[in-house]
Amino acid sequence: MDEARVFRVRTAEADDARAVVELWGGVAAEGRWIRREAPLDIDATMGEFRHALASESAHPVVAVTSTGRIIGSAIGFDQHPAPITFGMHVAIDQRRHGVGTALLQSVLAWAGERGSHKVVLEVWPHNHAAIALYERHGFVREGLRPAQYCRRNGELWDALEMGLHLV
Ligand SMILES: CC(C)(COP(=O)(O)OP(=O)(O)OC[C@H]1O[C@@H](n2cnc3c(N)ncnc32)[C@H](O)[C@@H]1OP(=O)(O)O)[C@@H](O)C(=O)NCCC(=O)NCCS
Repeated sequence: MDEARVFRVRTAEADDARAVVELWGGVAAEGRWIRREAPLDIDATMGEFRHALASESAHPVVAVTSTGRIIGSAIGFDQHPAPITFGMHVAIDQRRHGVGTALLQSVLAWAGERGSHKVVLEVWPHNHAAIALYERHGFVREGLRPAQYCRRNGELWDALEMGLHLV
């Protein structure tokens, strides 16, 4: 059985910081899926991660293989009275094995436990994998923000807003 078929999702810990930031850096280096752009400022990004770990209103989780490799991460942020937001990353060689589903389920379970009314996110319209995953969990397309983000190369990218009502 390959590595990703045996994984578990657990609460992230301080010792995960470097591996998680390296995972984010790898996804950022793909240049197409997330807002962060490579190269990441490793120290600053580890600081952001640790800030989430210390926050009562954040839900940082990782997907870890049986050999201890961190292959996925997600962080939910409760910004009540605004909806919960989250971000997620799965290592490029471990996709399409249910890791993203498991991470998203963890975030949604946490949102439910907190009694949140809604979960929202922004995704690039070309990110068909993420959009399909979110739609499978009941998220709907709420709107398109044209030319919402400026990329380092000066391109302006649209952002698709998606939401899931919990009540
Ligand atoms: C989006 C992402 C998190 C999905 O993670 P994953 O572990 O591959 O997702 P899963 O294996 O749980 O897939 C669940 C479902 O999502 C959909 N899906 C996932 N990847 C897909 C793809 N490449 N094309 C079409 N549908 C896809 C499918 O419905 C899939 O179910 P199936 O495999 O039974 O058909 C992952 O591709 C990733 O990390 N991408 C880069 C970072 C990113 O885009 N983050 C989100 C930014 S908003």
